[in-house]
Amino acid sequence: MTATLLTGIGELVTNDPEADDPVGLRRDAALVLDGDRVAWVGAAVDAPAADQAVDVGGRAVLPGFVDSHSHLVFAGDRAEEFAARMAGQSYAAGGIRTTVAATRAATDEQLTARVAALVAEMRRQGTTTVEIKSGYGLTVHDEARSLAVARQFTEETTFLGAHVVPPEHADDPAAYVDLVTGPMLEAARPHARWVDAFCERGAFDADQARAVLEAGAAAGLRGRLHANQLGEGPGVQLAAELGLVAVDHCTYLSDADVAALRDSGTVATLLPGVEFSTRQPYPSGRRLLDAGVRVALASDCNPGSCYTSSLPLCVALAVREMGMTPAEAVHAATYGGALALDRDDVGALVPGRRADLVVLDAPSHVHLAYRPGVPLVQAVWVGGRPV
Ligand code: NIG
Ligand code: FE
Repeated sequence: MTATLLTGIGELVTNDPEADDPVGLRRDAALVLDGDRVAWVGAAVDAPAADQAVDVGGRAVLPGFVDSHSHLVFAGDRAEEFAARMAGQSYAAGGIRTTVAATRAATDEQLTARVAALVAEMRRQGTTTVEIKSGYGLTVHDEARSLAVARQFTEETTFLGAHVVPPEHADDPAAYVDLVTGPMLEAARPHARWVDAFCERGAFDADQARAVLEAGAAAGLRGRLHANQLGEGPGVQLAAELGLVAVDHCTYLSDADVAALRDSGTVATLLPGVEFSTRQPYPSGRRLLDAGVRVALASDCNPGSCYTSSLPLCVALAVREMGMTPAEAVHAATYGGALALDRDDVGALVPGRRADLVVLDAPSHVHLAYRPGVPLVQAVWVGGRPV
């Protein structure tokens, strides 16, 4: 194994949980990477020798972004639906069916090529860990192949057969839930780590979501949930009651929802790209952080409600629109994402964690929000190597 000394780091975001500030900031720091891990973090003047040294020229270095929520396995796009929305139409869960039809008609190669392109796009913007869901197949075969495609790119794969009731089951949703919790789950299980459901008006109610999550848990999959995206509803409290690792969207929350999240420790994953792309009100990150809720930021990259792959954009939106400081937003998009995936090997640059990091062409993490829309990611390292 080769040890690399990263030096000339003007500002280092460590996310060291022992630090006094939200992101464990260090100035004039150095890092030693050994193999795929961080071996040493400290002041540049104290840096030990290594096999090779790389000087990053005073730039800011932060942990790679951990995008804990995306739907990259799909075909087609819905640009016209987006344009109609920007002309005044509102977002509805039913648009998912357009993408389901396109996805079913696509070949495995076409789906794989699309995921590869989107993962590369994410990587260029600093994402080093990504979760990918199924949910645009909605047959036993199409859900299993969607997950098999996703698995080529990440271990963090999520079975979302309960995304919406597909047209062929429109008159018998209960039969569709039986399919999801039975043969579809069985076919998905070998390719998935997580199970998810869209608990929302126009998708699945709390009883249906509970049935899916419980069947998934019995099959060895861990649960996460889409909830409270389009209005208040039972999803967040269901997630808290079941002790899920994360509940995602959380756009509309009652005080009881916030209390339930605080008490359960379930991570609230906020997806501000969705509010941007659906013209909905942004949730308040401030309210959640002040209540002591654990918060993550993720992209939700999908062709309907939010077709951005950019966590830098999400950080900027969280700062501008959701009451979060730049440090809190960066923490949520890195350490928060790791919490939302129950990962203790990513999301921080401290000894023992994976050497997944981003070098910004900027002196500080603040520039991610201060210079929105500017491609500031100068280099990305994964597992101790530049990619
Ligand atoms: O997370 N909320 C449900 N699913 C996606 C949207 C999917 C779509 O519109 O195609 C989401 O926003
Ligand atoms: Fe989603």
